[in-house]
Amino acid sequence: MKYNGKKYTSIWFEKGIIKIIDQTRLPEEFRIIELRNSEDIIYAINNMQVRGAPLIGVTAAYGVYFALKESGDNYQSFFNKISRIKESRPTAVNLEYAVDLICDYALESNDLDDQIERSLDKADEFYRNDMNACKKIGENGYFILQKVAKANEVNILTHCNAGWLATVDFGTASAPVFEGVNRGMDIHVWIDETRPRNQGGKLTAWEYYHEKIPHTIITDNAGGHIMQNGDVDIVITGADRIASNGDTANKIGTYLKALAAYDNKVPFYIAAPISTIDFKIKSGKDIPIEIRSEDEIKFSGKTPLNHSLSPALNHGFDVTPAKFITGFITEKGIFTPNQLKSLKNEKI
Ligand code: MRU
Repeated sequence: MKYNGKKYTSIWFEKGIIKIIDQTRLPEEFRIIELRNSEDIIYAINNMQVRGAPLIGVTAAYGVYFALKESGDNYQSFFNKISRIKESRPTAVNLEYAVDLICDYALESNDLDDQIERSLDKADEFYRNDMNACKKIGENGYFILQKVAKANEVNILTHCNAGWLATVDFGTASAPVFEGVNRGMDIHVWIDETRPRNQGGKLTAWEYYHEKIPHTIITDNAGGHIMQNGDVDIVITGADRIASNGDTANKIGTYLKALAAYDNKVPFYIAAPISTIDFKIKSGKDIPIEIRSEDEIKFSGKTPLNHSLSPALNHGFDVTPAKFITGFITEKGIFTPNQLKSLKNEKI
């Protein structure tokens, strides 16, 4: 997508190094940084310079390439690095999925040079697949927007950032928005600020501002009230891990939006690529929920936001039960929670 009129993806591979937009600096500063080895990859994922489930997956995929190159024929060292990449963030299944996919493909060969080449080829393919999946999510989601639109006008509510910064390009929850606007729909997006790291207010708002898409930032507590007023036609969020039964982990606070949507008869959709479905787990009870530093709640930089001597608890994600989810917008079409199992063989 565009920033100051120039097209960017959130990550790209250039002459042996990975380049990313450092998301910890947005919206104040647009800075491109280089990741040159597997340690840089782990640091970038753990410290959220890259974030969002699909982008975490793509970044980790290139991490496998670096790990292979660095380890030579010391496979013990390689597998240690792989474990550390996998542990860099626990909730987004895309990370583990990408790492396993690239490792399995690379290690089909017995020759180290060939393994390195194969890991890069597969990571590049994974990158392209993510971009294509998001484009398709946009096209499929557009039909849902048409269904809920009133005289071509739609008010969408979203949580966190499931925009192009969270994927290689286009985003998941934002892809139908971009598609709809391109096709002439009159769209306005309510953006939850998304405490404590404010991915909505900082990143989603930044994206829509630069794409000239009408939007309004609201506090995390405001969504229910705005739905009661009849000002939301549809809620669309992304996902970090979807269990086989449709229970879905996404940024903390998503569950409350789903409850409010249910009470107000507002359709609630999850937009995600199939790589976000974890068919190994039956329900949301099995999804590991990341707990991050309490300082994210207590401080903004060095400025105290709350009583700094009190303890705080910072769950990064929550699970929305499938019964509150109207449907899943994927690259293969729209599915109800009950229909998700039919996608099992589509996962490459
Ligand atoms: O902690 P984050 O910023 O990585 O959380 C991101 C989200 O919860 C997104 O909604 C999710 O990863 C989907 S991104 C297309």
